[in-house]
Amino acid sequence: MRGSAYSAKQSYILDTVYQFTNLSCNYTCWDDKLSGINCLNKYPFQFFSQDLFTGGTSTTADAILWILGELVNHPASFKKLREEIDSVVGTERLADEADIPNLPYFQACVKEAMRLHPPVPLFDRVCREDCKLAGHDIPKGITMIMNAYSIMRDPKIWDNPNDFIPERFLTEHDSTKGQNLQIYVPFGGGRRMCPGTNMSSSLINCSVSAMVQCFDWKVVGGDGPDGSKVNMDTKAGVTMSLDKPFMSTPVLHRNLFSA
Ligand code: HEM
Repeated sequence: MRGSAYSAKQSYILDTVYQFTNLSCNYTCWDDKLSGINCLNKYPFQFFSQDLFTGGTSTTADAILWILGELVNHPASFKKLREEIDSVVGTERLADEADIPNLPYFQACVKEAMRLHPPVPLFDRVCREDCKLAGHDIPKGITMIMNAYSIMRDPKIWDNPNDFIPERFLTEHDSTKGQNLQIYVPFGGGRRMCPGTNMSSSLINCSVSAMVQCFDWKVVGGDGPDGSKVNMDTKAGVTMSLDKPFMSTPVLHRNLFSA
């Protein structure tokens, strides 16, 4: 996302969006000396909005599909989750953001699915000074790529790293604020951590909880002997998406949408 090249032909929507910055600032290139560091002119704004659009759309949708896929493939977890929501929220209304702190198993399921399937598996940092990391000399100025996918499946850190075990987040490794860069990093970490974390978490929480409260999910043409499992293969790409479409028939369990 960072460092993407600007192309004048790129996006009409973004061209329109950044026009308003020209009302207060006519500079055509980013130049701290001329414009002052607070002046947001069109190129930084282009990159910034581009980051928001590209970083903020498919990532959240992918995360929701991965989470639902894991829940459908693990009916015992799905059942336990629905029971937790029913006992905390009741059966008369949809769960909302205020309920999430009272739903530890729900949070654990979301974290576990995002540990296994981080929609943004790689992120980068430029070294500001020479340093040593794990015995390697890292020169100043070099770009380091962090592999969140392998960190979060590292068998030295996680028991049964490739298995979906939400219960692990009820007891251990519960560092989701991005401060512990060694362990749980679906949103990156430190000062360049994803600024959309809260927004996407809200979307994920509301969507997934409603999908569990209101529907049973019958997979169509999936994996397994009876085709009832979601295929969890990953499509090649910079972001991590399901390789095959999630084909499923939602069967109404409880209609809370008019409540
Ligand atoms: C499940 C959803 C999302 C995931 C998994 C995700 C993941 C990430 C990761 C791993 C990074 C790199 C962080 C780092 O370098 O430490 C990042 C950066 C970023 N994300 Fe997200 N993101 C998500 C949703 C969003 C949303 C909803 C938005 C905006 C509305 C957003 C906007 C950005 C931006 C602008 C950056 C660049 C931040 C910077 O370079 O300082 N992301 N995201």
